[in-house]
This record gives sequence, structure tokens and C-alpha cells, in this order.
Amino acid sequence: MTVGIVYYSRTGNTRAAAQILAEKLKKKQAAVDLIEIEAVKRPGFFTAGRAAMKQLELPVKNTDVDLGKYSSLIVGSPTWGGCCSPFVKTFFSSAKNIKGKKTALFITGGGIPDPQGKPREMMQQSLTNVGVNLSDSFLGLQMKKGSIVVGEQHIDGFVQSILEK
Ligand SMILES: Cc1cc2nc3c(=O)[nH]c(=O)nc-3n(C[C@H](O)[C@H](O)[C@H](O)COP(=O)(O)O)c2cc1C
Repeated sequence: MTVGIVYYSRTGNTRAAAQILAEKLKKKQAAVDLIEIEAVKRPGFFTAGRAAMKQLELPVKNTDVDLGKYSSLIVGSPTWGGCCSPFVKTFFSSAKNIKGKKTALFITGGGIPDPQGKPREMMQQSLTNVGVNLSDSFLGLQMKKGSIVVGEQHIDGFVQSILEK
């Protein structure tokens, strides 16, 4: 099994979570690539929040990325102003070979991400629109300075759900 973990991280929390997921999957014999969505320009706090809440698209450096080799995808975003980061939408609007790809989501936040909340709903919408096959698996992590504050106990179950697909 080859898993692509696609994520955006402005201050390192979502990257740290993606790395933890990658290590756990590797220990279960999965091959894993970490694919960080790179902003053309790192947004300041207000630009980021405004773009997320107004659902504006912010440009990314890594366009047209071919995800065809992955049997599953995991997609991660920070929470911005009660929304997901718009970079996820921009990245997937040009990514190649994603139709029908089994995909699970994770979200980090300064608070505890609500599994029924808007950030997840926005990610689901963006990804469904480009044809990925979303699973019910979801991981929400409250994080601070690269460390998990709440949600660690759900990581193994999330990883297992990816492996069982
Ligand atoms: C512009 C902006 C808005 C944010 N809004 C929220 C929010 O609405 N709810 C929340 O729980 N955390 C919010 N946060 C905190 C981040 O979601 C949290 O620190 C996240 O883990 C950052 O991920 P990163 O380090 O990968 O960029 C916000 C952070 C930024 C920069």
C-alpha cells in the first residue's frame, strides 16, 4: 500500500501531525510520501483568516502534482477562522489522477476540531468536487507548538482505518 499524505502547514502543527501519521503507517509496512502544499507567498494571519472565511483561492507552487501512484490519500489542513485553509482547494484543483482515490481527512486547530464542523465540511466539498472518494475516517487534533494537546488517542484508530481500506 502506498499512501500520499497531502497537507498545508503555516506554522508546523499540521506538518508535525502528518509526520506522526507517516511514521505510524510506515511501522505497519505502508509506503508513505509526505506532500506539503507550498504557498507561493506565506500569508500573514489576517490574510490567511480572510481568505479562508471568504473562500478565496491562494496560489500554490506545486501545481499539477500527479497523485496516481497512491492507493490512498490523507489530506490535512489547519483551521482558519472556522474554515479550512484555502490552499487545499487550490492544490486539488490542479492535482492529477485523483478521481475515485480513497481519501481520509485530518484537521488541526488551536481548539479541538469538531468532527461535524465547517472546516471538515469545506474540505469534503472541495475534494468531492474534484472526484475523490471520501471515507468516513476523520482525525481532529488540537495542537500547540508542534505538539498534540488533544486527540492523540484517536491516531491509531485513524491509521488502522486507512490500512483497512
Ligand atoms: C488565520 C488563522 C486562523 C485560525 N483560526 C482558528 C480557528 O478558527 N479555530 C481554531 O481552533 N484554531 C484556529 N487557528 C489556529 C490553527 O488552526 C492551529 O494553530 C493549527 O494547528 C495551525 O496549523 P499549522 O501550524 O500547520 O499552520 C487559526 C490560525 C490562524 C493562522
